[in-house]
Amino acid sequence: MDKVQLLYEGKAKKVYSTMKGDVCVVSYKDDATAFNGEKRGIITGKGEVNNRMSNMMFQLLEKYGVTTHYVEQLNARETLVKSVDIVPLEVIVRNVAAGSFCKRFGVQEGTILKSSTLEYCLKDDNLGDPMINTSQILALELATQEELTKMAEIAAKVNQVLTEYLDKINVRLIDFKIELGRYKGDIILADEISPDTCRFWDKQTNKKLDKDRFRRDLGEVEEVYHEMLDRIIHS
Ligand code: TMP
Ligand code: ASP
Repeated sequence: MDKVQLLYEGKAKKVYSTMKGDVCVVSYKDDATAFNGEKRGIITGKGEVNNRMSNMMFQLLEKYGVTTHYVEQLNARETLVKSVDIVPLEVIVRNVAAGSFCKRFGVQEGTILKSSTLEYCLKDDNLGDPMINTSQILALELATQEELTKMAEIAAKVNQVLTEYLDKINVRLIDFKIELGRYKGDIILADEISPDTCRFWDKQTNKKLDKDRFRRDLGEVEEVYHEMLDRIIHS
């Protein structure tokens, strides 16, 4: 399927229309940003890793009954996906305290949470993606109660399936962010699942295998993206 027109360019991906209205092409970039675009860089090969890894995670989730936007990988960087209307919310699930959770609540990084948490952020770069609660989401008509219930169900299923799968490749799923889209009257999983959008720690050493290496200048950035992909490919 050929790309027709650039519809949207985000920080890590471009989206193109195709001749068919119900599918579009996502093209993953090597560009990396952190802290709402304040820090910028290139992670060589990231686009290819995130494309392949996301597609493998979406196919795994489909097997467990989660409907995703994935249609077909076109090449190393590009994938055909269902044309969804993205719900302007980032849905974050946490199993272990890290990142903004530690800062906000004064909790030590690595603290295992008694139960997993679910958070929403408004997807708006100009506002710095502020946290938003469900009553505010309903009041602003960003999603309906029915959609919120479906989104929470999908988030919990993704957490369960990915946690179990990653454990087999010696990776702990610390937290992750997903985005959902409206498609033909349903809410489906969209965007990506990659080291950009999840925190992955090695099960034995707790070595960070995700974008925190870029955010915090920890080195071995490209290496860990490839390491995650290699572990998945060889699983
Ligand atoms: P946080 O601890 O910075 O709030 O991040 C929680 C999770 O969400 C982490 O796995 C990284 C991911 N994330 C994104 O994918 N995009 C973002 O813009 C932010 C802030 C976090
Ligand atoms: N905050 C995002 C991240 O750290 C990227 C960004 O906002 O520039 O993943």
